[in-house]
Amino acid sequence: MEDRKRDHIDLAFSSKLDGKYVDKRFDYEPLFGTHEQQEQSYTFLGKKMQMPLWVSSMTGGTKRAGTINKNLAQACAEFGLGMGLGSCRILLDSPEHFNDFNVRPIMGDEAPLLANIGICQLEAMLEDQSTDKLGELVEKLDADGLIIHINPLQEAFQPEGDIIKRPAIELLQDFLERTSLKLVVKEVGQGFGQNSLRQLLQLPIEAIEFSAMGGTNFSLVELNRSNAISAEVFNPFIHVGHTAEDMTRMVNQLVDELPEEQLKVKQLIISGGISNLLDGYYLTSISKIPAIYGMGSAFLRHAMGDYEKLQIYIETLKDGWHLANNFLKVK
Ligand SMILES: Cc1cc2nc3c(=O)[nH]c(=O)nc-3n(C[C@H](O)[C@H](O)[C@H](O)COP(=O)(O)O)c2cc1C
Repeated sequence: MEDRKRDHIDLAFSSKLDGKYVDKRFDYEPLFGTHEQQEQSYTFLGKKMQMPLWVSSMTGGTKRAGTINKNLAQACAEFGLGMGLGSCRILLDSPEHFNDFNVRPIMGDEAPLLANIGICQLEAMLEDQSTDKLGELVEKLDADGLIIHINPLQEAFQPEGDIIKRPAIELLQDFLERTSLKLVVKEVGQGFGQNSLRQLLQLPIEAIEFSAMGGTNFSLVELNRSNAISAEVFNPFIHVGHTAEDMTRMVNQLVDELPEEQLKVKQLIISGGISNLLDGYYLTSISKIPAIYGMGSAFLRHAMGDYEKLQIYIETLKDGWHLANNFLKVK
């Protein structure tokens, strides 16, 4: 007690805010909530989650990635989260990496899990009529479906990048005619503009994951791996894109505009640049389509070492979510 009081006196002067920045998105209502944590449940891909929190697709195919994936999968099991695997392309050619991706035994059956493949690989498989391999991949991983990431800028800036020959929307439409897999479509860090969102919302897919601009940007990752001329010439592209907040508002507007029978997408994963839980809380609250929020790099930072570090991080996110639910009202 005495220590605590001494800390208060020592820290009071360094804990002053000037009041210039106030988060205007919420009303703070301290009168009505409690610290009791009510069990909550959210549904995604027909499965139950305890928090509306998604682990955005990250890496696989290296020893380090195996550890990261296992930590993330364990957290999904413990906290009732869902997870997208990083690109599983390597598994199609080199099955020896299967163990790095084989997270279902760790996650358990309850947690939603999605495999992941790029639009360029989908195009190649549509061309040689081998899309059945994607069904086999999902089955082998015991996943609930497949994420297709659309990344034309990343591919263009990647020294060893692939080429897209037909527009992604056509490839998705073709694939949807041939598959019964549950699909989610995402970007990789620059989001989707209004017309792309309009088209995606009308596809019979399970969800759109924004992977919006404002956090990890894969075009920039590739430019950092690229030669000096490409880095200089292509650099302006990395500043183009849509933030998660802009995209949430665009989707809300499209939901109002589109006739009900044309609106096929029933869920969103609001991700990309979501670095704090209040952003997730705010955007999922204002979304007119049921939404969970997703994070990539924020999880990665805590998932590279011992599981306990990640566990403490998510436990704290969970506490924060309950505090927001109990004491903050979205304006
Ligand atoms: C190390 C790393 C690897 C990633 N690999 C993939 C991938 O294989 N497939 C994919 O769809 N997205 C991939 N992403 C993109 C993330 O899924 C996410 O969309 C992006 O990081 C933006 O979210 P953030 O700002 O919360 O990091 C990767 C991200 C990171 C940080």
